[in-house]
Amino acid sequence: MNDSREIIIFDTTLRDGEQAPGCSMTIGEKLKIAHSLKELNVDVIEAGFAAASPGDFDAVSTIASEIDGPTICSLARCNESDIEKANEALKPNKNRRIHVFVATSEIHLKHKLNMAKDEVLKAAFEGVKMAKSFCENVEFSPEDASRTDHGFLTEVVDAAIEAGATTINVPDTVGYTIPYEFGELFNHLIKNCTNTENVIFSVHCHDDLGLSVANSLAAVESGARQIECTINGIGERAGNTSLEEVCMAIKTREEYFDFQTSIDSTKLYPTSRLVSSITGMHVPRNKAIVGDNAFAHEAGIHQHGMLRDSSTYEIMKPQDVGIARSNLVLGKHSGRHAFLDRINDLGFALEKDEIDPAFEEFKKLADRKKEIFDTDIEAIVLNADIANMSRWSLLDLETSSGSSWGSTASLKLKDSDDKIIERDNHDDPASGPIEAVFNIISDITGYALELVNFEIHSVSVGDDAQGEVTVTVGYDGQNYRGNGVSTDIIESGALAYLEVINRIERNQAKH
Ligand code: KIV
Ligand code: ZN
Repeated sequence: MNDSREIIIFDTTLRDGEQAPGCSMTIGEKLKIAHSLKELNVDVIEAGFAAASPGDFDAVSTIASEIDGPTICSLARCNESDIEKANEALKPNKNRRIHVFVATSEIHLKHKLNMAKDEVLKAAFEGVKMAKSFCENVEFSPEDASRTDHGFLTEVVDAAIEAGATTINVPDTVGYTIPYEFGELFNHLIKNCTNTENVIFSVHCHDDLGLSVANSLAAVESGARQIECTINGIGERAGNTSLEEVCMAIKTREEYFDFQTSIDSTKLYPTSRLVSSITGMHVPRNKAIVGDNAFAHEAGIHQHGMLRDSSTYEIMKPQDVGIARSNLVLGKHSGRHAFLDRINDLGFALEKDEIDPAFEEFKKLADRKKEIFDTDIEAIVLNADIANMSRWSLLDLETSSGSSWGSTASLKLKDSDDKIIERDNHDDPASGPIEAVFNIISDITGYALELVNFEIHSVSVGDDAQGEVTVTVGYDGQNYRGNGVSTDIIESGALAYLEVINRIERNQAKH
């Protein structure tokens, strides 16, 4: 058993996280997240699956070229072409890892791979060997390990170690296992596999039963020394182990676990906000660590205790996870310096070319809103770069509604060639202002979208609070989400709908 107390944090937001429905990202967005993961100090970034598409290849290659520090990894199936592509994409970085996988459970062998056990054993051995010929650092995953016969799993892991794997990752691919059982599986593998002394055992969990963090912690207690996880727990179906939850469990209960990670916990909240804004995937209010309510106290008895001593009802401080909210309010007369200082204090960083547009947005907002809170500033920062990468922007919007006659709207959009298109529905009122606005946007952009969900929530406080609208639409068999923020919720809806269309176009440009 490896007796190090250091847990390697392997982030797969850009690979397994991106596989979540509607979470597809462009290369620029992935690079921005990769920079943020570096700041967070993760040990390994799984940048993608290079062989999956030319866009994935470019994303891995760009991240490998630009991110210096964490190990950069690409996933590959156990075949020549995948492994060569992974190697090619990772080449620019000295600190690289190839991650090969093959499914091992009866169910997958029979229904997915149509392979016999000895063929899988051979594929695992040959796959690791080939990856090893390119790169010293090789990870192997027996997919669906938690539903694989223990005897066969031991044989496959032995083969991977013999071929040179340096990390053996044990995935609970379908989120089926439970903590005690999974801990026992790690005990079994570490005890029964050969030459495990120089190998790191790793855990990779999915959250179908809401047990991914508990299962990951059980694995660590049984000898795993790497945890694979994603920001906000995004990933296939119910998602993956949430990085912020598992890392804060280890940190907050250090006296119990006696493990450490390299994570700078004060960067958790800004990274979570960035990922949520880029993917359009909302963090639920009650989400542990980074949800809006994670540090909110409503009940009088709790508030009373908190005022006396925060430890009565808080096991972590908001500042520990980078929630640096203050009562400091900015407004119309606040200058550029104060604005940039506040962004810095909130843990965000703007690129040079993002500063001017963000400050302009701040000034525009200050004209419409007396007091600008931290959440307002966050919304400006998180939208600054997205606006830069978008084809369509909203120049003007007017609506008029009456309960007896319906709703009309008139819109002015600009495309990336600076062409201005103006349209209205005055001759054909819709049943509500949102419907009117969405129909006109669809008409101008040429996208007929199926509206799947529409949510509104308030970003800040007060009568003039900004409202954030999240729109989910179906297009071409895929779901896309977009957010829009404004003091006018109809405008938020228009911005969210446009963001969805921009996202679809960015996604199409990627493929
Ligand atoms: O869930 C899973 O099995 C995976 C592997 C490819 C590691 O994501
Ligand atoms: Zn997975």
